[in-house]
Amino acid sequence: MSLALFGGSPVRDTPFTTWPVFGSDEEARVLAALRSGRWGRLDGSEVAQFEENFARMHGCRHGIAVANGTVSLRLALLAAGLEAESEVIIPPYTFFSTASAVVEANMVPVFADVELETYNLDPKAFETAITPRTRAVIPVHFAGQVADMDAINAIAKQHNLLVIEDAAHAHGATYRDQPAGSLGDIGSFSFQSSKNLTSGEGGILTTNDDALAAACRSMHNCGRVPEGVWYEHHVISGNYRLGELQGALLNAQLERLEGQTATRDANGRYLAEKLAHLPGIHPQQRPEACTRNSFHLFMLRLDAEAFGAAREAVIAALCAEGIPCVAGYGFSLNEQPMFQHKAFGPYLPGVKDRLTFPPCPHSDRLCREQSVWLEQSIFLGPRDDMDDIARAFAKVYEAREKLAEWRGE
Ligand SMILES: Cc1ncc(COP(=O)(O)O)c(C=O)c1O
Repeated sequence: MSLALFGGSPVRDTPFTTWPVFGSDEEARVLAALRSGRWGRLDGSEVAQFEENFARMHGCRHGIAVANGTVSLRLALLAAGLEAESEVIIPPYTFFSTASAVVEANMVPVFADVELETYNLDPKAFETAITPRTRAVIPVHFAGQVADMDAINAIAKQHNLLVIEDAAHAHGATYRDQPAGSLGDIGSFSFQSSKNLTSGEGGILTTNDDALAAACRSMHNCGRVPEGVWYEHHVISGNYRLGELQGALLNAQLERLEGQTATRDANGRYLAEKLAHLPGIHPQQRPEACTRNSFHLFMLRLDAEAFGAAREAVIAALCAEGIPCVAGYGFSLNEQPMFQHKAFGPYLPGVKDRLTFPPCPHSDRLCREQSVWLEQSIFLGPRDDMDDIARAFAKVYEAREKLAEWRGE
């Protein structure tokens, strides 16, 4: 069978589930919020209700909804009262925000490499990166698979470090059946438009720590306190509140999350099993403790030599077969121009000159050579969709010799 890339018929010519998924429930809820005329967080009840329900679903007593999943990370660091220029350990295979939030909290991001097989923070690298100045760690549950929280929490406890889960990809994911967002001291989620639960933009902090929750709540609301009057500001902060129209949308979307997560997880697990036998294909390795993945991304590593064709050619061939996929981050976060040029604006004045951001070989290999991403909405469809994807991979593998000659024409 000729590859679609070379003029053959594609495995699939129908689109996968598109994102976002919404219907009359979202329309009714947003319209009701609109008509209420109460559009601000402090006027209505949609955001408050969402905070309560989302936090409960994620095993937490407190949820503080904010403008996005970047500011949530920053607020978590600031609310914990960490001193300026503290070191915060983060993985390098993640979105920019995991690092930018640290710098914008006037703290030093220290990269500790990821494991090549799980794409998540390597606990050994984390431990090695700890210095007397380390105060926090931000494990990222990349692609919706929870990081090795047993090991990370144990190391953090030994060194008295704050654990902030970057759960921007991990709505509804669990680890030993405990929800992401309740596994460290504080969890941070994003509701940006690509995320598994979305209101276009938005974020939330989740915690079971009453003092941290109170500090976050104050800081997301211009430093106000519950017992104070409106024009009374106790700590330096700003307005990071979420609006009621977004709250209404999130309340409707939240009703779908449980079912969607179960579908994504079942499909993702099935596809991983179907692809694992192909030479050079390594789906994200899933430890037993990862009881539920949210599959914000289905991620795999393509070993070009073992597969017999280069990643870019394989991606082009899969896309032509009707399977949309991408290579993901082009280079590791520690190599961003912002770090190379230490373009930190007014932040980190005391330490900037001595900072270095050494290479992270695993992250580097994933970015430059091996990673392939399929996005979450693909996993909302029926099992047949997974079979199509597996068929396309098999077809591309069969045609690998011809594909190896492809030069992108
Ligand atoms: C891992 C990770 N952390 C944080 C964020 C930031 O979220 P937001 O876009 O809502 O600011 C993202 C967004 O893509 C992300 O992927």
